Amino acid sequence: MPLIAWTSQLNVGVKLLNNDHKQLVNLINSLHDGLVTGQAKPELESVFESLVSFTRIHHANEEKFLAEAGYHGFQAHKREHDQMLDQLLELQIRFIQSAQLGVEMEIMQRLRVWLFKHIQGSDQKFAPHLKTINVEAILAGWKAPVESPPKLPVVETRIEQGVW
Ligand SMILES: [Fe+2]
Ligand SMILES: [Fe+2]
Repeated sequence: MPLIAWTSQLNVGVKLLNNDHKQLVNLINSLHDGLVTGQAKPELESVFESLVSFTRIHHANEEKFLAEAGYHGFQAHKREHDQMLDQLLELQIRFIQSAQLGVEMEIMQRLRVWLFKHIQGSDQKFAPHLKTINVEAILAGWKAPVESPPKLPVVETRIEQGVW
């Protein structure tokens, strides 16, 4: 059973960002599944590394999007992203150093809260603003600020196409 299920509470109204969030959910779920099924530690560490690199990619995407959308809370949101990355890197170090499943499962719970708290608490705050602007115009000229690494785990959650 996945640790995190995608629900409408996580929907921020723009598929580009929703798909990124789904990718983060999938990476956390992959890590959790790997722990539960006894996957080798180096493989788990590589999934964790993918979570870190995709978090950087998503933050860059979201920040570019919010800047282009003229979101008034942009600076505060960017600061929160920087703090989130610091928290994630701390968890990654603890994960690598741990040799106990109990500690690693506790880190999984922290990752779940880390993601939910930000999407539900902060990302949801920009959703009403995006409804007032021309999102299609931003997406029409969209160029990803950071290229995705060549190897990312297979996405299991359905990725939606289209604008909304
Ligand atoms: Fe965010
Ligand atoms: Fe986000």
